[in-house]
Amino acid sequence: MSYQEVYRQSLQDPVVFWQEKSQALPWFQFPSHILTQDENGSDRWFADGKMNTAYMALDHHVEQGLGEQIALIYDSPVTATKKVLSYLQLRDQVAQFAGVLRSLGVGKGDRVVIYMPMVPEAAIAMLAVARLGAVHSVVFGGFAPHELAVRIDDAQPKVIVSASCGVEVGKVIQYKPMLDLAIEQAEHKPKHCVVLQRPQAKALMLTPRDLDWHEQMAVAKPAECVPVNATDPLYILYTSGTTGKPKGVVRDNGGHAVALHYSMSAIYAMEPGQVFWAASDVGWVVGHSYIVYGPLLAGCTSILYEGKPVKTPDAGAFWRVVEEYGVTVLFAAPTAFRAIKKEDPEARLIQNYDISSLQRIYMAGERLDPPTYDWTCEKTKTPVIDHWWQTETGWAICANPMGIEPYPSKPGSATLPVPGFDVQILNSLGEQLPAGEQGAIAIKRPLPPGCLPTIWGDFARFESGYLQDYPGYYCSGDGGYKDAEGYVFVMGRTDDVINVAGHRLSTGEMEEIVAAHPDVAECSVIGVQDELKGQVPVGLVLLKDGAIISEQELQQQLMQRVREEIGAIACLKQTLIVQRLPKTRSGKILRKLLRQIADGQDYIVPSTIDDPASLTEIEQAMEARGLVRVAR
Ligand code: COA
Ligand code: AMP
Repeated sequence: MSYQEVYRQSLQDPVVFWQEKSQALPWFQFPSHILTQDENGSDRWFADGKMNTAYMALDHHVEQGLGEQIALIYDSPVTATKKVLSYLQLRDQVAQFAGVLRSLGVGKGDRVVIYMPMVPEAAIAMLAVARLGAVHSVVFGGFAPHELAVRIDDAQPKVIVSASCGVEVGKVIQYKPMLDLAIEQAEHKPKHCVVLQRPQAKALMLTPRDLDWHEQMAVAKPAECVPVNATDPLYILYTSGTTGKPKGVVRDNGGHAVALHYSMSAIYAMEPGQVFWAASDVGWVVGHSYIVYGPLLAGCTSILYEGKPVKTPDAGAFWRVVEEYGVTVLFAAPTAFRAIKKEDPEARLIQNYDISSLQRIYMAGERLDPPTYDWTCEKTKTPVIDHWWQTETGWAICANPMGIEPYPSKPGSATLPVPGFDVQILNSLGEQLPAGEQGAIAIKRPLPPGCLPTIWGDFARFESGYLQDYPGYYCSGDGGYKDAEGYVFVMGRTDDVINVAGHRLSTGEMEEIVAAHPDVAECSVIGVQDELKGQVPVGLVLLKDGAIISEQELQQQLMQRVREEIGAIACLKQTLIVQRLPKTRSGKILRKLLRQIADGQDYIVPSTIDDPASLTEIEQAMEARGLVRVAR
């Protein structure tokens, strides 16, 4: 069937379409209600289906005789370690760790926070939580204690699973002191922490709260899979919104399993037994969906890579892994390829490896700029597929439907809407815009399976953040357009979210930290273009009267504060002291205008502006520092 036919079917009769897709999975009880609404009016998939995600991802394959097939490959250039786990071995370790958690009182619906580096135990912990019908919340290891504390308070976990350390390029990051500090800062105190002692650092354990991973595993009794309802939550994953309070995106069990299983064939054209490598981190949605759940649900082999695209040890790292494990599909953020391109512009290191197993490269997490697209296609001689998605959706909204009918790619476009996603471009009145016109990218409801049904503990925030702006639609927060052939071009966020090296961050949150500095009267943090990281944050600061601090000093202090509060990944390295910030007459900072200046876009000076000269001043200051993308 052609893509157009499949797509039309998915929108015309979503119930029939998704019922059929759900039948590919081993449910304990097949759902008879395919699409219903919950008490909040939120669309829910497969409400009366009974299942267990870890069972579908592991036990089922073992029962089908695939126990000896490799499920997970751990490759860690930073610790010079490699490890291979078959489906049977992974299932057994997951069952064992589920036994540990059960012995600590974790049961159906309880939350478990996982704050871990890229080690197989992170995936084992996630699957073990799923096995018990509990809810995991993985917190990216690069986040500082404050961020972890906020998530602990929101998710209220019974247990936290962590490790003594993570290993970055040339340095060991001690996780345990950060965990201790986070628990100290949080109001909610978990009953226990299970800590994986790694050889690179020994964590100081606090008794009786802290327990050793290996000691607990040695005495645990394996736990069976606990049946859950399809609509029961599998995980909470916090993502940056426009304020300092991250949003707990809720993922249910049933819709998630069906969507990811479908995506593995429709989008990635993967067959069971092939090797899928998402070079991301389990702390991000890409890691959840395509290091852990997607490949395992589809019976593929997944790679968990503890390293970087460069410097571990060089820009040939990706090609080495592709050759060593016969990778079929590689998925990474464009920033990773920009890093490789920077160090090895001619891609000479590819010559050292046989990458002929590689059939497709997928990119997401930020806009794939045409030069990076062209370079990767040319140097790898492999089709490169840009696809657009968000933590909220859990899988791609737009992609080249490689497993249905491949389309020619167009640089700068994430190609076509994936079946199930009715993608529309809307103007500010909520009217659909014709081809070629830029507007807000929205998805007509119902959202397909896998997408968030709510924000953890805060349905009102889900409604106000995503559903209210355009009734009947989910508002993605991204802007863009469709061309005459229906290709979707995602141009960037329309809110205060930025993407730094594929990491999603809130400028609003950074503003709260900058504004708390004693010398700062007012500020605005905006994302400016960066050749390597896509975007980096820059602070524009108005000092308090009488403040005597140099720009350099302030910059240093603010960088330190942001690192301490959010984490090193936030990279607020540049601060500009300005004399005024553009505001409306009612005193609101015109952030959109600042973003437009930084992006080198033409802008219209609003009639509500209080002080138009402030714009010229800021534009000049930014140009002087090379912060404006295109000279206008
Ligand atoms: N734990 C602790 N610290 C971390 C961390 C982690 N998991 N990840 C990053 N950091 C730290 C780094 O050590 C660095 O600290 P420093 O400023 O003290 O040196 C800081 O955060 C910034 O890291 P990063 O943004 O990764 O920059 P980099 O210069 O070290 O590396 C890239 C640049 C492009 C190689 C790297 O960002 C990369 O591989 N990006 C891909 C991201 C990705 O896969 N995203 C997933 C979406 S698909
Ligand atoms: P995250 O929730 O961290 O996955 O970030 C989602 C955001 O990243 C989206 O809202 C987009 O702004 C951006 N993004 C992800 N993939 C793409 C893509 N292929 N093209 C453009 N932007 C993207």
